[in-house]
Amino acid sequence: MSNVLENIKMKAASMNKHVVLPEGEDARVVKAAAEVVKQGLAKITLLGNPEEIAKNNPDVDLTGVNVIDPVTYDNTRAYAELLYKAREGKINKKTGLPEYADVDAAIKGVLKDYTMYAALMLKAGDVDGLVSGACHSTANTLRPGLQVIKTAPGINTVSSSFIMVADRENKYNPDGVAVFADCAINIEPDAQQLADIAISSAETAKNIAGIEPRVAMLSFSTKGSGNDDKFFKSVPKMQEATAIAKAAAPDLKLDGEFQFDAAVAPEVGKLKAPDSSVAGNANVFVFPNINAGNIGYKIAQRFGGYMALGPICQGFAKPINDLSRGCNVDDIIAVVAITALQA
Ligand SMILES: CC(C)(COP(=O)(O)OP(=O)(O)OC[C@H]1O[C@@H](n2cnc3c(N)ncnc32)[C@H](O)[C@@H]1OP(=O)(O)O)[C@@H](O)C(=O)NCCC(=O)NCCS
Repeated sequence: MSNVLENIKMKAASMNKHVVLPEGEDARVVKAAAEVVKQGLAKITLLGNPEEIAKNNPDVDLTGVNVIDPVTYDNTRAYAELLYKAREGKINKKTGLPEYADVDAAIKGVLKDYTMYAALMLKAGDVDGLVSGACHSTANTLRPGLQVIKTAPGINTVSSSFIMVADRENKYNPDGVAVFADCAINIEPDAQQLADIAISSAETAKNIAGIEPRVAMLSFSTKGSGNDDKFFKSVPKMQEATAIAKAAAPDLKLDGEFQFDAAVAPEVGKLKAPDSSVAGNANVFVFPNINAGNIGYKIAQRFGGYMALGPICQGFAKPINDLSRGCNVDDIIAVVAITALQA
């Protein structure tokens, strides 16, 4: 863990990216902001009222942290205009009315939702990345990004992955590092979404985890050995996802569908998928749905002694990451460093 994280921090420090933290009301976020700047990992903008932040955090030295108060900031109207334009014609599912009737309604909206405010700063190019979620739910953290930042070119799905780091030698994972996806965002992804998840996870493996990706599309079946045609049709779904991903990223080492042992154990891979260059030595694992992914990463964590770094959001046009509400200051610092690397 320490190596992967230390490498991430070292790279982040060399990039000097600018990350916005909209949760100035959270003491952990304020402490992390100060620490990130002190360690030189990124430039930080914190949202909130500067006097209140100083009053509530008297022991924190915020020298070098840029604090913006959306209520008085000069650009607030411009951000609201950006929001109004981006969401013009969109109907609020609950009220059946337009999301924002006019720019004044958008101003009210951004002053109620600083994560949206931060997403608009990101959209405007005033910051390079956004980290939130210490005191907001995943849905409320990701929705502004889904609505105004949207997905990266060639990708239609925002997803998440965990970087799994071994605490001991493991013959089935010689790098000691693996990427698991999607364990946290997409509940029942279709074949196209799974292909997006695979391509984005390979990027996370390469750019954040620092490993050369070999992607396995996981199933309870290997190369057609099983089928569930009468139930969920997940085997053909993984087969189709594999074909879509291969066509979209022909240079990526990716194959499937594989059972987990065929993906990681050379002897099983050779037996069940002799023609595959990924079987038996995969290090990026795409699960068929959130149930499999979420259960799988927790088994690796609790029984396998792996440490789980994430969830890391992937597929956004510009980086946004969601904190767990139980996070501590070190977790926030790590997520800021990861976000800087994605910028
Ligand atoms: C990601 C999530 C938060 C989106 O929820 P939501 O706001 O209700 O999403 P909606 O369906 O209303 O979509 C809002 C917008 O985001 C887009 N969107 C939603 N999910 C998306 C995805 N995965 N990728 C890309 N765009 C997505 C929609 O197309 C929509 O765009 P539009 O408004 O411009 O038309 C939701 O999928 C979710 O809650 N996932 C599970 C998260 C969870 O509970 N995790 C457990 C943690 S372990």
